[in-house]
Amino acid sequence: MSLLTIKQLYITDSHTNQPLVSDINFQIKKGETLGIIGESGSGKTITCRAITGLNDSRLKVEGHIYFDGIDLLKVSEQSLREQRGGEIAMIMQQGSRAFDPSTKVRKQMFETMRAHTKLSLKEIEAVLLKYMDFMNLKQPKKIMQSYPFMLSGGMLQRLMIVLALALKPKLIIADEPTTALDTITQYEVLEAFRNIKKEFDCAMIFISHDLAVINQVADSVLVMKAGQCIETGLKETVLYQPEHTYTKYLISTKQKINQHFKKTMRGELHA
Ligand SMILES: Nc1ncnc2c1ncn2[C@@H]1O[C@H](COP(=O)(O)OP(=O)(O)O)[C@@H](O)[C@H]1O
Ligand SMILES: [Mg+2]
Repeated sequence: MSLLTIKQLYITDSHTNQPLVSDINFQIKKGETLGIIGESGSGKTITCRAITGLNDSRLKVEGHIYFDGIDLLKVSEQSLREQRGGEIAMIMQQGSRAFDPSTKVRKQMFETMRAHTKLSLKEIEAVLLKYMDFMNLKQPKKIMQSYPFMLSGGMLQRLMIVLALALKPKLIIADEPTTALDTITQYEVLEAFRNIKKEFDCAMIFISHDLAVINQVADSVLVMKAGQCIETGLKETVLYQPEHTYTKYLISTKQKINQHFKKTMRGELHA
């Protein structure tokens, strides 16, 4: 049985009546990672925010979002908040922005854990240290005593992942989690996601405009363009034997950029 089933999802801008997302359908099973690709503005973020109910109220969401058998679009705000906090974790592009710059990391992480779990302070400490170790964050106590501005974007992003894991969600939604990072940190964070896939049995939605990233983490792929699903299926099919012209175009563009890069590095091209 699938953990998440999205059926005929439509999102409309209620101010202009403009359709933003039309007839999106997909399913995710426990332990499965769905990669969503598509150019900027194609509706990836608002589709995922519809799942957690985090969209701007001007966006009208219609259709069905079944999570563990319950249609999230039919339940009350209160129970939605509980689901959102505990069972679905969202990791955003700029993890650093989620932290309040004037409060030490430790206090913020503890407050989040207190709000969503019944763990004691001691248990929270233990679970945070465990996942900081898993995320390869050295000197965890020193990090926790820091203010966010003292830490790099990559560290704060890893702390966001620590929090997400500590809440033991059934579904992790990562919306371009590596886009705002430099290349080396991107690699580290991506490595962390691969480890999560190996160690945890949760389901994941991983949004990225980078096909190479999706190729590394996803089991299945959904391609979006202008609010519509262009193609969906197993990664091996969508990325290596795409049917749709748009998917082929995305893949060939990526390959051209890679070839250009290699030629430039070999000195065959002049910038
Ligand atoms: N709060 C909002 N009000 C009106 N339109 C919005 C709002 N948020 C997003 N949109 C529009 O919805 C479309 C999809 O946006 P988004 O999901 O952020 O794209 P992506 O994540 O694929 O780059 C865009 O045309 C964007 O302008
Ligand atoms: Mg987005």
